[in-house]
Amino acid sequence: MSGFVMLGKRCLWRIGGMFECAAAALLRTIPELINLFQLESFDMPTNAPLNRKLRMGLIGGGQGAFIGRVHATAGVLDNRATLVAGALSSDPAKSKASAGDYDIPLERAYGSYKEMAEVEAKRADKVDFVSVATPNHTHFEIAKTFAEAGFNVICDKPLTFDLKQAEELMEVVQKTGVVFGVTHNYTGYPLVRQAREMVLNGELGEINAIRSCYIQGWLRTRLENDNQKQAAWRTDPAKSGAAGCFGDIGTHAYNLGRFISGLLPDQISCQLKAFAAGRVLDDYGTAIVKYTNGAIGTVTASQISHGRENDLFIEVDGTKGAIEWHQEEPNKLIVRKNGEPHKIYTRAGGPYLGGMAAASSRLPAGHPEAFFEAFSNIYAAVYDDIIKRADGKKHEPLNTLYPNVFDGVDGMNFITQSVASSKDGAAWKSMKHAACRS
Ligand SMILES: NC(=O)c1ccc[n+]([C@@H]2O[C@H](COP(=O)([O-])OP(=O)(O)OC[C@H]3O[C@@H](n4cnc5c(N)ncnc54)[C@H](O)[C@@H]3O)[C@@H](O)[C@H]2O)c1
Repeated sequence: MSGFVMLGKRCLWRIGGMFECAAAALLRTIPELINLFQLESFDMPTNAPLNRKLRMGLIGGGQGAFIGRVHATAGVLDNRATLVAGALSSDPAKSKASAGDYDIPLERAYGSYKEMAEVEAKRADKVDFVSVATPNHTHFEIAKTFAEAGFNVICDKPLTFDLKQAEELMEVVQKTGVVFGVTHNYTGYPLVRQAREMVLNGELGEINAIRSCYIQGWLRTRLENDNQKQAAWRTDPAKSGAAGCFGDIGTHAYNLGRFISGLLPDQISCQLKAFAAGRVLDDYGTAIVKYTNGAIGTVTASQISHGRENDLFIEVDGTKGAIEWHQEEPNKLIVRKNGEPHKIYTRAGGPYLGGMAAASSRLPAGHPEAFFEAFSNIYAAVYDDIIKRADGKKHEPLNTLYPNVFDGVDGMNFITQSVASSKDGAAWKSMKHAACRS
């Protein structure tokens, strides 16, 4: 009898357990279903024909980080995406602790990017893309893991730790067909796009010279010795890569010249130097880039210039005209032609702007737009392709408005050959690479 009671109890316990499991599974599914319902229950012409918000995942951007917050803001600026998941830090506890800062539900605040890729891949409402905002040495593994799992990726620059990784990542992107953006965000400014359009439609004539400079002063002293988060990894060759300042901001200056001019690089000669005593990686450098049409470009990057904040600027000389643009005054583009008064084009300033610039503004003229909006313009162009892919349509991978994996490889080639040239007494090195697009 007592055996029978025991058996009955065990059966009841088992049945109870089954119910508990089923209830727990249901409870786990309910937020997913609510999420799906909330995100997909209304019309959304900006994201047609997908007709729902994109689901964004963020890697990096934990407490105390810099650019992750910018990605999170730029990604949702136009209300076309919602940040729903993240692996926000290399420290699992900090990753979870940071989730609330982004309204990421705890169940989707992952301890690591690997866990995130595995778990998200199984969800009905999985993320549509991930943004990678971690230090350079981690980009490759993270971007590759997500791309191989079929997720679209937006990765910050420089693309990877070295050129070999970048080339491998390019192959993964080509093989998987995922959409892959790289946040060389300065190409998102309306007046930078205007400058490109003016070059492309021949308004400046043949391009003879490109001078691009990216001048900062924040690493004048060895901030890395005070364990300043951003300085620490940027000055560490095991985390930053072969270059310091030239990889961190020189790549932006080079990319800006390539974007505006569309010229193909031929050769490079470079001199890099670490001026802060004891620093291993460069904090200053200048390169001369010969372009295949005979134009000469110069790229100067500094992180040791007193008082300079984020002074990226570019000047382009053509046979018919010249332009000048400054990141710290991004709503103006100066256009000069001999014998004519200097012209200042303004963002949203009127019908003289081309379609590319006009489509990149949100506010009426005179209401300054800047960093977030330009960053968001990169996101917007990537979103168009993500939606195409989700709709089963082909997207053009190479000639995109946004910087893509090929531009990322171009940037890594720039770093590699700059360092090689500098080590070799500024000898000329080839810049030809199959990934370079015009
Ligand atoms: N496009 C731009 O204008 C721009 C500006 C700044 C930085 N960046 C680039 O963005 C990247 C990050 O720079 P930052 O200044 O924000 O660095 P940061 O040190 O401020 O932040 C990096 C974040 O990544 C996290 N992290 C590190 N390893 C991780 C991992 N394996 N998984 C999850 N999270 C991890 C860190 O915990 C931290 O939260 C760098 O590649 C940098 O070159 C680009």
